[in-house]
Amino acid sequence: MIVCSCNVLSDGDVKACLTPGPGCPRTPAQVYRCLGCSPNCGRCVRTIRAIMDKALADAGAEPAAACQRGCCPTIPAEAAAKPAA
Ligand code: FES
Repeated sequence: MIVCSCNVLSDGDVKACLTPGPGCPRTPAQVYRCLGCSPNCGRCVRTIRAIMDKALADAGAEPAAACQRGCCPTIPAEAAAKPAA
């Protein structure tokens, strides 16, 4: 299902960015960045936030591992490499 019509992002695209761990996007802005775009009208922000919250809760994980797509350059590599405490 398309959740962002401006950038033609699906819920699957958003979920693909979410891998529990230190490099996981924590905000919708980081999800846009992970997917190589930026918000335009902003109508989808709440939906993306809801998808993030549900996906991470379902995973039983703290929000934050490296993006499965390897596309989150804002996350320091050392943060992604830290073991969970
Ligand atoms: S619908 Fe996502 S930025 Fe417009």
